[in-house]
Amino acid sequence: MDSSAKIIVLVGLMGAGKSRVGIELAKLLKRPFVDSDKEIERAAGMKIPEIFATLGEAEFRAGEKKVMLRLLAEGDKVLASGGGSFMQDEIRASVKSSATSVWLKANLETLVERTSRTDNRPLLRGVDRAAKLQELMDKRYPVYAEADITVVTDNQSPKEMARRILKELEKRDRAL
Ligand code: S3P
Repeated sequence: MDSSAKIIVLVGLMGAGKSRVGIELAKLLKRPFVDSDKEIERAAGMKIPEIFATLGEAEFRAGEKKVMLRLLAEGDKVLASGGGSFMQDEIRASVKSSATSVWLKANLETLVERTSRTDNRPLLRGVDRAAKLQELMDKRYPVYAEADITVVTDNQSPKEMARRILKELEKRDRAL
């Protein structure tokens, strides 16, 4: 087993619950929890909406790649990735070679409900939220499906989700 093999990466759309579930899963696994969006913000010294507004999405994606590749090279953790992260070829390849990936699959209704609680996602600002999320589901779900494990998240608490994921991980030696 290589030194970075104990990384669990949570993948999924905005509102799928990657951070909340990740925190619970990290407790169960007794591993650190890292949120890649927070790491990007720390590296940039700016919040994500500000990065999008001042530098643009392309710069955000470049920063996201840099931060994710660093986090994937560093060892044990539960890593909540930003929704667009697994869509970048280089990041996805690195996740596949150095981590176990878990897709938190949610339906449109759940995503709309959960993302409407905050206004910190530039891709959902000033647009029809449901239409945009549906567009992203169409584009991204076939790629998220490449994750090692898929769990459907609707109507479940983060704790329940984490317990289910742990069971799935227990079936896979590499992750534990
Ligand atoms: C994005 C998802 C966000 C954040 C950025 C872009 C995306 O993260 O990285 O706003 O492209 O789906 P969350 O999935 O944690 O909300």
